[in-house]
Amino acid sequence: GKTIKIGLLGSGTVGSGVVEVLKKNVDEISQKSGTEIEIKKILVRDLKKKRPHLEGMELTDDINDILKDEDIDIIVELMGGLHPAREYMLRAMKAGKHVVTANKDVVAQFGKDMFGAAKENRVEFLFEASVGGGIPIITPLKESLTANRITEVMGIVNGTTNYMLTQMTNCGNDYETALREAQELGYAEANPAADVEGYDAARKVAILASLAFNTRVTLDDVSVEGITHITPQDIEYAKELGYVIKLLAIANDSEKGVDVRVHPAFLKKAHPLASVNDVFNAIFIKGNAIGEAMFYGQGAGSLPTASAVVADIITVAREIVKGIYAAVDCSAFQVKPFCPLEE
Ligand code: NAP
Ligand code: HSE
Repeated sequence: GKTIKIGLLGSGTVGSGVVEVLKKNVDEISQKSGTEIEIKKILVRDLKKKRPHLEGMELTDDINDILKDEDIDIIVELMGGLHPAREYMLRAMKAGKHVVTANKDVVAQFGKDMFGAAKENRVEFLFEASVGGGIPIITPLKESLTANRITEVMGIVNGTTNYMLTQMTNCGNDYETALREAQELGYAEANPAADVEGYDAARKVAILASLAFNTRVTLDDVSVEGITHITPQDIEYAKELGYVIKLLAIANDSEKGVDVRVHPAFLKKAHPLASVNDVFNAIFIKGNAIGEAMFYGQGAGSLPTASAVVADIITVAREIVKGIYAAVDCSAFQVKPFCPLEE
């Protein structure tokens, strides 16, 4: 049968993880997708940079080489940032290509346009890796939990800050050392201010709340406080009182309206989220049929995030093989306006 061809945009932490997972799990992936999947071309910024992990693969620094290649079925966007990622993805969909991305900035801010373009061009726009790294959370909200009225989404959704707080609490590391380590481990955003100031978590909870509550929540609707003001004294003080400090993302939907926020919080040591450490994330969902569900796993990093990206690629590949278009309509991003909490 037909080999599914990918155009990969970006080969940093996550992009190189995707190359590795597609290579090392080639047999499982072809069995599960029912086809062969191959990366045809990779977009990079600097063609002269040494990239031993990409040896033998076709690199280009010209997006047109990829978007105009009729052989390419799926664009996998792993460059990050709003621009030109948004424009490249819109152009790809217009050219009839499916899109898979880990880009929470674009989904949180331009979700409406992206889902509109996907619908119009009858292609998929999938973004499982945009929240929670390797944790399956977008697909459950779009599919497995749709029988519920969901009233709360709450948890730890940023790996960098959770890693930093864990290092500062358990190892006595200072803020700068902890941040540098998180960057070296590939957890942090290109501009780590997004992590430590809480905006990365805010984008993620905006995406989760939009899906969970079937209402459109953007970054502007989230009240945000990060961890930049947390001192070693705060951490010691919390410890003495039997608490730990965690950066929480919280979204509630009640008769009074929707409330979405990100802020550091004191948690009793016995609280289930208090033992979520290092790069791990955990997300609680409250629904009126399921009761409570908790999703836990590595929230950032090369292979865990690639696990989510490749799963989306396999979903698209299966649809191409079967000749079906099974887009789940993310109508919440498109129709309903945000209804803020009435004070
Ligand atoms: P990264 O390590 O900085 O890699 C970005 C890649 O994109 C690099 O290869 C870079 O090229 C390339 N790139 C950036 N801008 C480009 C442009 N204008 N034209 C061509 N190539 C460009 O980033 P990352 O950590 O892999 O993150 C990628 C995306 O995944 C982001 O949206 C991020 O938020 C998301 N994400 C990351 C993680 C994580 O754990 N890191 C987890 C979940 C989601 P060069 O190689 O030349 O620099
Ligand atoms: N910078 C993000 C984090 C990457 O630390 O959680 C995963 O989305």
